[in-house]
Amino acid sequence: MKIATTIKEVRETVAQWKREGLTVGLVPTMGYLHQGHGSLIKASANDCDRTVVSVFLNPTQFAPNEDLESYPRDFENDKALCKEMGADLVFHPEVEEMYSEGSATFVEILSDMPKQLCGKTRPIHFRGVCTVVSKLFNIVNPDKAFFGEKDAQQLAIIRKMVKDMSYGIEIVGCPIIREADGLAKSSRNTYLNEEERKAALCLSQAVEIGKDLVNKGETNADKVISAMKSHIEKEPLARIDYVQAVNGVTMTPVDTLCKNVLVAMAVYIGKTRLIDNFSVK
Ligand code: PAF
Repeated sequence: MKIATTIKEVRETVAQWKREGLTVGLVPTMGYLHQGHGSLIKASANDCDRTVVSVFLNPTQFAPNEDLESYPRDFENDKALCKEMGADLVFHPEVEEMYSEGSATFVEILSDMPKQLCGKTRPIHFRGVCTVVSKLFNIVNPDKAFFGEKDAQQLAIIRKMVKDMSYGIEIVGCPIIREADGLAKSSRNTYLNEEERKAALCLSQAVEIGKDLVNKGETNADKVISAMKSHIEKEPLARIDYVQAVNGVTMTPVDTLCKNVLVAMAVYIGKTRLIDNFSVK
């Protein structure tokens, strides 16, 4: 497995693979990799001839009051997991390599889509995500790119960007990977102390409550969301940012739960903001 820190090295390596007729998968990450990322790398390695993992903590998707400075990093562990899961190239650039001085161009979806759900409290987040993912697409030129369904709004936004900008790249969504007790895997779980770690289970438990009601035939979004919220509100360390039902493609709020509706939530456990979701089947 090769490590590249420059755009030039990535371009040369991928160009050689393409000359050999090989297909290329990209797994964009911000590092501090866990088994959720591992599943994306594995999916790419199974599906494509070569897999590139980018490990880049992207400053443009963090607001000044967010956790860019404290975001966990462990590149040695990242490299080991990438290798174990079958990556061929890890792209680990410095900020200056990705954003040259005076960089002033952004990719932004100008509809309500990035303003819904997480966009309400993180207004510049998806502009930063679209910009960096677009740059990674231009650098790596992959055939397929792999993203987790835990970040369901991000996945929908990237699909929309790919369509609107005519990228010839297939976007593959991969299922949420959970701890044994149900907590969705996230690099931010590391912020939780012991008490908060227990409290954080209210998210996955609320997902189960919501799914159960839907499986029993409940289609009224308000009823399902109220039940999920009441459960979370019982947890003293939890503060709800949102629990909402939206169209899984457009992110527009819906009243009725039918196929492909996304029920998503963001909840603060102490100071840590966690997300989780389920899609109506
Ligand atoms: O999901 C993430 O880790 C990031 O938002 C991404 C897609 C790697 C862009 O920085």
